Amino acid sequence: MAKKIQTPRGTQDILPEESYQWLYLENEIRKIFNRFDFFEIRTPVFEETELFARGVGETTDIVQKEMYTFEDRGGKSMTLRPEMTASVVRAYIQHALWNQGAVQKLSYISPMFRQERPQAGRLRQFYQFGVEILGTPGPVADVEAIALAMEIFNHLGLRNLTLRMNSVGCPKCRPNYRAVLRESLKNVKGRLCPDCQVRYDTNPLRILDCKKEICRKLTEDVPGIEDYLCEECRGHFNAVKNGLKVLEIPYTSDKRLVRGLDYYTRTAFEIVSTELGSQDAVCGGGRYDRLVFELGGPDVSGVGFAAGMERLLVIMRKNGLPLGEPPRPEVYFVSLGENAKTAVLKLAQQLRRSGFRCELDLAGRSVKAQMREANRIGALFAVIVGEDELSKNEAQVKNLENGTQTGVPFGKLPEFIRRDQ
Ligand code: HAM
Repeated sequence: MAKKIQTPRGTQDILPEESYQWLYLENEIRKIFNRFDFFEIRTPVFEETELFARGVGETTDIVQKEMYTFEDRGGKSMTLRPEMTASVVRAYIQHALWNQGAVQKLSYISPMFRQERPQAGRLRQFYQFGVEILGTPGPVADVEAIALAMEIFNHLGLRNLTLRMNSVGCPKCRPNYRAVLRESLKNVKGRLCPDCQVRYDTNPLRILDCKKEICRKLTEDVPGIEDYLCEECRGHFNAVKNGLKVLEIPYTSDKRLVRGLDYYTRTAFEIVSTELGSQDAVCGGGRYDRLVFELGGPDVSGVGFAAGMERLLVIMRKNGLPLGEPPRPEVYFVSLGENAKTAVLKLAQQLRRSGFRCELDLAGRSVKAQMREANRIGALFAVIVGEDELSKNEAQVKNLENGTQTGVPFGKLPEFIRRDQ
């Protein structure tokens, strides 16, 4: 036998037994996107590597260790997108979307790619749903983004999520805090993990986010950024928190929350669940006031979030929350004889055009096996056609839920099925 080929490590097939749950989720998520008046954007799954290097940041784990980067046949460096924000901002600039309305509200549900070590809730291809609001520096946009994320989780029935909030300041006040942080870690620098020793020089805020026990301990008592924010950043942060209070969205302040992407300014947030183990973030986002400009666009602000679909599914399954139902055909055609098989093709076409989900025998089964199949797949009706029925232009319709059987003229099938189901 030829060698079997498996999915690449950290990727998964979504089979029909599960795909209906994805469809349900995507539908419900889109419903809430619509209520907040967002428009969907789709961008290529790969982009020029430079976009992410400049957008996400050269010193981030994503860019340094996790990107799927390859040279195309023309010798250009390309990368499978590890996240959407950079791509959405690229599209915003490329198509001058600010000409189509001062504020652009864009949503997406798309696969992302990161070459991380796979573990529960961490994949190499995973789906994110998210939004980007481009064109406004006002705190109301931050509140709307957070409210939208919470509304989706709420709508899906999730409780017990925690919203963590922080501000990471701006280019004006962050350097001060960076200096404070370096100063307070000066004496313990040598005991930080090797990664954090590098971060100490390149991006000390990121040390606060390190998951290593030793780094967490050593940073326990460092001052938080809140006390070092400039007046504008503090005002912005307070306004966001006030907005959340008005909407009765509870949050906790978390001075460690700095996020793993370089583009953030001011608001940073995560939504975490205790039911996810070590990969506990189901959603992350924040404001990015410099990114559009740094990628060659006008000096406009953005704010957004992205949430992991697989992690969301884990929580929903654990809590037994509704995830839709596998679709059941309304009609299964049971046919006997060659003429009936052909007639049934035509009848199925008619019923399908009337909007019914119909199945017919493709495997040449006996009548008995066809009846068994109709029951197995949970069809509501078996429409039985043999020589007798053909001569009368009438099918025997068996309601598989209550067992009743009725003769129904071929032309009346849609009407009967609509009425009887
Ligand atoms: P992020 O925190 O890197 O942010 O990812 C957002 C969410 O994607 C995470 O909270 C998690 O649920 C999910 N996720 C990330 N990596 C994986 C993985 N390897 N396997 C499974 N799920 C994963 C961003 O991507 C930003 N673009 C969010 C944003 C949008 N900020 C502003 N706008």
